[in-house]
Amino acid sequence: MSNLSYRTAGESHGKALITLVEGMPAGVALDKDFIDNELRRRQGGYGRGGRQKIETDVVDFLTGVRMGKSIGSPIAMLIPNKDFRLDDPDKTPALSRPRPGHADLAGSVKWLTTDCRETLERASARETAARVAAGGLARCLLKAFNIEVFGFVRQVGEAIASVDVTESNWREMLVKRDTSEVYCPDENADVQMRDFITNAKMAKDTAGGIVEAHVFGCPMGLGSCMTWDGRLDSRIAAAVVAIQAFKGVEFGMGFNVAKLPGSKVHDEIFFDASKKDSPTLGFARGSNNAGGIEGGMTNSAPIIVRGAMKPISTLGKPLRSIDLNTKEPSEAGWERSDISAISAASCIMENVIAFEVARAFMEKFGGDSMTEVRANYENYLAAARKLPLD
Ligand SMILES: Cc1cc2nc3c(=O)[nH]c(=O)nc-3n(C[C@H](O)[C@H](O)[C@H](O)COP(=O)(O)O)c2cc1C
Repeated sequence: MSNLSYRTAGESHGKALITLVEGMPAGVALDKDFIDNELRRRQGGYGRGGRQKIETDVVDFLTGVRMGKSIGSPIAMLIPNKDFRLDDPDKTPALSRPRPGHADLAGSVKWLTTDCRETLERASARETAARVAAGGLARCLLKAFNIEVFGFVRQVGEAIASVDVTESNWREMLVKRDTSEVYCPDENADVQMRDFITNAKMAKDTAGGIVEAHVFGCPMGLGSCMTWDGRLDSRIAAAVVAIQAFKGVEFGMGFNVAKLPGSKVHDEIFFDASKKDSPTLGFARGSNNAGGIEGGMTNSAPIIVRGAMKPISTLGKPLRSIDLNTKEPSEAGWERSDISAISAASCIMENVIAFEVARAFMEKFGGDSMTEVRANYENYLAAARKLPLD
């Protein structure tokens, strides 16, 4: 069994961010332009703070890549920080007034310091650039098997994108999303979302929202019901809630399943012999309320995930807090900050989900080289098409 995994390192104002990916088979064509474009999208969006004007994130492959292809060894990627100032006390002064909603208070007590900066530098979502690089790499593997991920902003405030994303229209939606500063493919909702974020800014407040991702082209059976941590939905949920400020995740119909009887929730099963040669093997569903995963395994319908992000916790009009040095009441500290990072969050969620799908893909079809992985993939589909086996 192949074990595709990654770790990240780096502080917000440290020298660089680092991603180490292990378990990538040899022979994956690595599209640096694609990964750099994802990093650029992560920096964008309506309501971002000044940091994004300083940085131009691009990935530098330090190891594991030769002439644009993986060679099977660990892949180390580096994203330099132009705004390196962690060692300069004038530019990164101590912060002793923890911000409600941030990692400041719990982290300072945990690491026995009154300087919240020592926690916030790592808690900061600047680190997600390294996760996007890992997801971008995973997507190079997935694309070789026509597995694609599309994410966008579904909701900000009361504004909800009124779009139905399908396997046949998602590329059009992507074009629309990419013309929207909020990363929302619905023009009307885009205007309302920007208004909400502008109003938050005027009120020295912040905004959160809901983002949505769809994964197309997964064959039946990624993930497993045999172990609790082999379930793909549990892994995706963990990866999504591990994104800073994400507090909720749902699949397909999501929490609405609680309101309806089973007959209105479960997706009826059909078979279309003319589609037997496609990765769906000819199986079709009357709906996709399950969001493409049943029993922790892909069922060949698109995976649909939504994540809820709370509003940014650094407020221009700070909430009440205390000073850790005196324990006296004080306003929370302020750091250069985003008003909204929901657009970036949609890009991050796409990429962390992609990594989990690639991990499950490698567990099922893993081999040392792409030649082996492809053979395993084809053999499995060929065997599944022959069902019932003698
Ligand atoms: C893309 C992105 C950008 C963020 N930018 C900020 C920011 O500028 N200021 C801030 O206070 N929090 C920001 N956050 C949220 C904090 O990183 C997060 O609230 C903090 O690390 C505490 O973690 P928790 O909210 O998961 O409990 C951002 C989150 C994401 C995903």
